[in-house]
Amino acid sequence: MLLASCSDERVLATPCTTDCGTPRIHPADFLVPTSEAFHGKELLRRNWDFPLCASCHGTDFAGGTAGVSCLTCHVEGPTACSTCHGSNGPTTFAHQAHAPTVACGECHIVPTTWDSDGHILHDGVAITAPVRVVFGARANETIDPADRAGPPVWDGATCTNVYCHGAALHAAGGAATRPRWDDPLPPGGCTTCHGAPPPTPNHVRSDCRACHPPSAAHIDGIVELGTTCSSCHGSAASIAPPMDLAGNTFTTAIGVGAHQAHLQASSRISAPIACATCHVVPATITEPGHLGPGPAVVTAALGWDHDAQTCSTAYCHGAARPRWTSSGEVSCGSCHGIPPVDAHHDATMTLTTCATCHPGTVDAFGNIIVINHESEHINGVVDHQ
Ligand code: HEC
Ligand code: HEC
Ligand code: HEC
Ligand code: HEC
Ligand code: HEC
Ligand code: HEC
Ligand code: HEC
Ligand code: HEC
Ligand code: HEC
Ligand code: HEC
Repeated sequence: MLLASCSDERVLATPCTTDCGTPRIHPADFLVPTSEAFHGKELLRRNWDFPLCASCHGTDFAGGTAGVSCLTCHVEGPTACSTCHGSNGPTTFAHQAHAPTVACGECHIVPTTWDSDGHILHDGVAITAPVRVVFGARANETIDPADRAGPPVWDGATCTNVYCHGAALHAAGGAATRPRWDDPLPPGGCTTCHGAPPPTPNHVRSDCRACHPPSAAHIDGIVELGTTCSSCHGSAASIAPPMDLAGNTFTTAIGVGAHQAHLQASSRISAPIACATCHVVPATITEPGHLGPGPAVVTAALGWDHDAQTCSTAYCHGAARPRWTSSGEVSCGSCHGIPPVDAHHDATMTLTTCATCHPGTVDAFGNIIVINHESEHINGVVDHQ
């Protein structure tokens, strides 16, 4: 029995001078982390000799002949990463600011097991050298080699040329792209790594989501930009809102408004109306004038008034001024009389008689004729016979 005598194992303890029959194996403050006798420090002095501890506490550290389990305090086992580094990683300096999104391996060589050579042991001897900071793929990310001044560097205090902090972006205008490890969280928020928005000509507006998908992965080495006509506005069914640039889908939002009422013309008052009737349509995403400061530019001839939300000179609506964000305002009679009050018409005419003189426009029931997305109604010509 190991404990029966003053065996070699007893070097762990204060020398057994008196009663070797009831020895205390470990020093009294073996559990006090601040004491030099603390069991963690003892392990370090012994070149992390876990097998020695296991010889009494069991190979599974569950008690063994010592009858004291390590697992009551170290649930995952004393050699688990979390025993020495905490279950959420170190709490020193900026560690917690990076956890858990930035893995240890982005800044360190990560040992596969606690006894991997170079971690805390080298050739079986405990290492006391400074911890190794070796940058991983993310800090080394380079979008345009011309924008990178050099490899990422840790000089013992500061990180330089680290992609994540905006140091390898083109001209993003970040305020603190060389952060100190011991700084408290930089107060600048978004603008520490790049401007909000960055000071480039494309950044005439600051609602990021108008051009960068809100779901874009951040600090992943790719500047995500909408790539198809419907990625910043519209949907799979139509490149016009909804969704508008702010993400709205309801027609009371000015960016959505009566877009689909015009584009689909499901009320069948006219043929569908193309974007080009109301906007200059860009051929490419980056065409000058397209990614403008907002609000979207509406063809001048329509007399669009953003504040009133109406078109003041739109031919299509005659004298009517329906609000862009209202619905159900337009029916027969809202743009011109049924029939108009003029020399060609008289009050006896009804919807079912219009077809007598306007057969290409209206059918015998008074419905507008729309065939293959075309109509003689609201086409700029008064059609009659
Ligand atoms: C020779 C057998 C033996 C060895 C080797 C041994 N222990 Fe113990 N350990 C004991 C016994 C027995 C106890 C119960 C308390 C006592 O008698 O001191 C104990 C208790 C403990 C305790 C509980 C704290 C306390 O003071 O009661 C800790 C922690 C501990 N051991 C850690 C270790 C570590 C770490 C190692 C390896 C460096 C180790 N032990 C090696 C036998 C051993
Ligand atoms: C009564 C609770 C308790 C028991 C039992 C216990 N430990 Fe610990 N151990 C601690 C505490 C407390 C710490 C310090 C944790 C900290 O600093 O966050 C610690 C730390 C450690 C460390 C980390 C040292 C470092 O430098 O980070 C190791 C390794 C360790 N113990 C091994 C063991 C082993 C092996 C056993 C069983 C033989 C054991 N412990 C049993 C409480 C215990
Ligand atoms: C017995 C305690 C202990 C265990 C278990 C342990 N480590 Fe460590 N680890 C250390 C110590 C001590 C250092 C060096 C700290 C210093 O120099 O200040 C370290 C350093 C590191 C570093 C910094 C890079 C380096 O190697 O210098 C990483 C990353 C790391 N450990 C990850 C792990 C992982 C992953 C595990 C589990 C597979 C693990 N550690 C298990 C004690 C431990
Ligand atoms: C964003 C980069 C970064 C990440 C991520 C990171 N570390 Fe560190 N770590 C550092 C820097 C920088 C130091 C300071 C090195 C020095 O003092 O030379 C450091 C120091 C350490 C130390 C030495 C003791 C200390 O706390 O200062 C240990 C141990 C360590 N890291 C382990 C880890 C482990 C384990 C993880 C993952 C859970 C991790 N680190 C994640 C950058 C990082
Ligand atoms: C009007 C469209 C638009 C808006 C809105 C927009 N961006 Fe951009 N962004 C772009 C384009 C186009 C690029 C690619 C080329 C460039 O930098 O002009 C880009 C590139 C970037 C880059 C990389 C810059 C570099 O120098 O490498 C960052 C960072 C960025 N944007 C952040 C933002 C942030 C943050 C916002 C909101 C505060 C925002 N953007 C709003 C269009 C936009
Ligand atoms: C730690 C540095 C850092 C901080 C802080 C930061 N960014 Fe970024 N951001 C980047 C980098 C690097 C890029 C370059 C593209 C990439 O890799 O995702 C970027 C790109 C972007 C983009 C372009 C879309 C993309 O991800 O490709 C937007 C939008 C953006 N950031 C918004 C923000 C907002 C909003 C905040 C504040 C909540 C913020 N950023 C804070 C580093 C940062
Ligand atoms: C009947 C006229 C009309 C038609 C047709 C039309 N739009 Fe618009 N569009 C508008 C008006 C009005 C606004 C609101 C402008 C403002 O906010 O001042 C607008 C705004 C927009 C906006 C900006 C949305 C926002 O969130 O600010 C986009 C993008 C847009 N239209 C794209 C399109 C596309 C693509 C088409 C064709 C598929 C189209 N529009 C067809 C009148 C029209
Ligand atoms: C990167 C995001 C993005 C992509 C992708 C995009 N747009 Fe736009 N679009 C905008 C923004 C921002 C506006 C508002 C511009 C403004 O203020 O004039 C807009 C406005 C429009 C307008 C309203 C007229 C105008 O210029 O204001 C039309 C039409 C339009 N886009 C069509 C398209 C077409 C066609 C495509 C595909 C070739 C496309 N968009 C792709 C962001 C985008
Ligand atoms: C007896 C024939 C006749 C009937 C029936 C008739 N219209 Fe007309 N309508 C005309 C003629 C002729 C014109 C003038 C064409 C021109 O100015 O070149 C006209 C013009 C119009 C115009 C254009 C008015 C303007 O100011 O430019 C509208 C709108 C119109 N008709 C609607 C109707 C409606 C609605 C009905 C049925 C309720 C109807 N019409 C029935 C003969 C008729
Ligand atoms: C959004 C406004 C608007 C509404 C609503 C409207 N019209 Fe018109 N209508 C016009 C305009 C503008 C013209 C002028 C001629 C043209 O461009 O077709 C016109 C012309 C006509 C004409 C003359 C023939 C022609 O094609 O020019 C008839 C007939 C007519 N409308 C019938 C109707 C009927 C029936 C309804 C209801 C089902 C109706 N309109 C609703 C705007 C409207």
